[in-house]
Amino acid sequence: MKKWKNNFIRNSVLVVSLFFSILSTAQCPIVPHPIVYKETPGTLMLGNLLSVKENEFPETCKKMLIERLTDQFSLQVSFSNGKHLLEFKRLQNVPKDFYSILVNDKITVNYSSDESCFYAINSLLHLIQFSDGNAYIQNCFIQDQPSFQWRGLHLDVSRHFFSIDEVKRYIDLMSYYKFNTFHWHLTDDQGWRIEIKKYPRLTEIGAYRDSTVNDHYSTSPRTYKVEKYGGYYSQDEIREVVKYAQDRYITIVPEIEMPGHSRAALAAYPELSCTGEQLPVPGLWGVFDDIFCAHEDNIVFLQNILTEVLELFPSQYIHVGGDEAPKNRWKKCKKCQAVIRENGLKDEHELQSYFIGKMDEFLTKNGRKLIGWDEILEGGLSPNATVMSWRGIEGGIEAAKQHHEVVMSPGSHCYFDHYQGKGSDEPLAIGGYTPLEKVYQFEPIPEALSPQEQHYILGAQANVWTEYIPSFSQVEYMVYPRALALSQVLWTMTRPSYDSFFADFLRFQVPFLNRLHVNYSRTFAKPTLIQSKSERGIKLMLERNQFGLQNNLTWTKDGAAYKSNQSFAEKDSLLIDRTSDEKIIRNEFSISNAQLTSPTKTTIIQHPSLGIDVTYVTQPAEQYNAAKELALVDGVVGSLPWKGNEWVGFREKQITLKLDLGQKRIVSAIELGFLEDHGSWIHYPDSIEILVSKKGKKWKSVKVVNWKDGELVKASFLTKKISLSSKARYVKIDIKPKKIIEIGLPGEGNLPWTFLDELIIF
Ligand code: ACM
Ligand code: ZN
Repeated sequence: MKKWKNNFIRNSVLVVSLFFSILSTAQCPIVPHPIVYKETPGTLMLGNLLSVKENEFPETCKKMLIERLTDQFSLQVSFSNGKHLLEFKRLQNVPKDFYSILVNDKITVNYSSDESCFYAINSLLHLIQFSDGNAYIQNCFIQDQPSFQWRGLHLDVSRHFFSIDEVKRYIDLMSYYKFNTFHWHLTDDQGWRIEIKKYPRLTEIGAYRDSTVNDHYSTSPRTYKVEKYGGYYSQDEIREVVKYAQDRYITIVPEIEMPGHSRAALAAYPELSCTGEQLPVPGLWGVFDDIFCAHEDNIVFLQNILTEVLELFPSQYIHVGGDEAPKNRWKKCKKCQAVIRENGLKDEHELQSYFIGKMDEFLTKNGRKLIGWDEILEGGLSPNATVMSWRGIEGGIEAAKQHHEVVMSPGSHCYFDHYQGKGSDEPLAIGGYTPLEKVYQFEPIPEALSPQEQHYILGAQANVWTEYIPSFSQVEYMVYPRALALSQVLWTMTRPSYDSFFADFLRFQVPFLNRLHVNYSRTFAKPTLIQSKSERGIKLMLERNQFGLQNNLTWTKDGAAYKSNQSFAEKDSLLIDRTSDEKIIRNEFSISNAQLTSPTKTTIIQHPSLGIDVTYVTQPAEQYNAAKELALVDGVVGSLPWKGNEWVGFREKQITLKLDLGQKRIVSAIELGFLEDHGSWIHYPDSIEILVSKKGKKWKSVKVVNWKDGELVKASFLTKKISLSSKARYVKIDIKPKKIIEIGLPGEGNLPWTFLDELIIF
């Protein structure tokens, strides 16, 4: 079995002399940065007609070279045996996937395999730059080969459907960054997208839903867009896409979800479920109780589907899902319980393992390999299964320790359906926060594994679930540029610093993505302001990684221009003082940088408790405490939709905050914002008590306010204003959340969350 490590060791012999000189140098136009990139003096002008030596190199590569040079660079290509600028040579006895490029007075490419010839062509494309409209390449020397064998991107076409042309575009873009695996998530609850000749109802019925939930699915009350939605790919179309991917050296791994995420199939064939009840293709996201019954007939049914899948997809790996399969129905199903009994299984987890095992047997018998989400570990991993670790890296570690192959895809770094920015102008996403830099810092090989076990990590992939991604342009927005960071993670075992990657990215890859007309997210360039404490209020600075971009700042106070059009660099800071009387001043900042972004707007409310000392006597939940003690008094009022970084979240029976005003003064009123989002179990509290103290020792209760709960509302927030008249330096706020969430609401019977933001003490 081919493993990255073996290759890596063999190949590193080849490049040993240069290996240690690499990756420190910035200024490399290619992403992923090659193992060896050496700039040499001079440049090579390409002219308008690139002459290529008419020797043997793979036909598909030749086709791609012509297509890409003419389409993206408007360069014509000619082939001849006479004078030429570009020459390809196939080397024997070198490791698979190795290539080198030498650019001096001409370009010489050496390669070892069809794939590596294609990688070399893509590196060449990245090298082309323009000066006054003239194409040139900086002289250089490159030696390169991939470190990981699974370099993947996934696309969910069930939650939202994307046309054949859009899927091709997805694959085409992947290939510029040397990804080699496209995981096509073809079936899920909300739509079955692959034609199966034996079972036509799968697409006749299962490919369409009658409605789709609006907004975030946790929003309460839910509303739906009532409109038929769907689509599917015919087998001919799938063959066309498979060929298209092959031409780009990309393997398509199809996924047929089982036993969970199968509501679309159950809508088509209700007899496949445990209850047999006719249910619709759902228009709601989430995890559903109704899954394939584990009865023998269903195993045959699914194997028949796989038979057609195997005919369409030559991939060695076939994905059978296996994630998020609740066992409620199986527990109550006579047929499932009979399978448990007859096969001496312990419980429903072992039944899932038995079920997946049947698919493993089938795929192995047909010369393929089963891959599934990490839940396939539960109840025992079937003998030949490969694990895709998504609930963190732990599943991957466990599988590797059991000597099973692993593809890493943890939610923390590899879920491109998560937010990539904190701004309220980001398109609605499922949640999370995975900016470009976080993806770049991903380490696919866990330290917890021994060198031997590490061999089982095939690579990694990013997943693109599309509940909240209704259009293909938004797919591009979510995937790019994060895919560039992942491509680097998967190409070399060590990588340049993020700063170096980012500088090269701005200089070379932004123009490259523009050339390809990619709708990449510009969030990485958003000049985000961050707050810290200052002596008399707060200090604002630009968040790191805005360097190199020319930022322009416009600032108004209560609507009147205060400072306009001054440049604002990373090291600059602005001081905002708390007000000394009961005044509130609204500061609006608008910062833009020349080429990349529309202005980012930040509002800071200047108020009398800005930047004061807050002590959390009760600790907030770690995941909702991004801005620490400053969050409540940073001048940024928590907004909607909430993303967790402005709000401070608690899940406690009592919440106590202590505040130091710095000096004794009259406290006339307190204003505190609360969030309500029943879908996320966030509720207004029951009551608030205010206590004051002159020295912070003896406390006097000055007010108790009982909350009169509103009716069930859409996520909203309310500012509770409490009037007082006391002299104090210290203030204590005791908040009593509701004891439990009432029956009938999401999370009924549980302790609710309490979310707070901005605390103003007048
Ligand atoms: C998954 O995200 N449910 C694999
Ligand atoms: Zn059953």
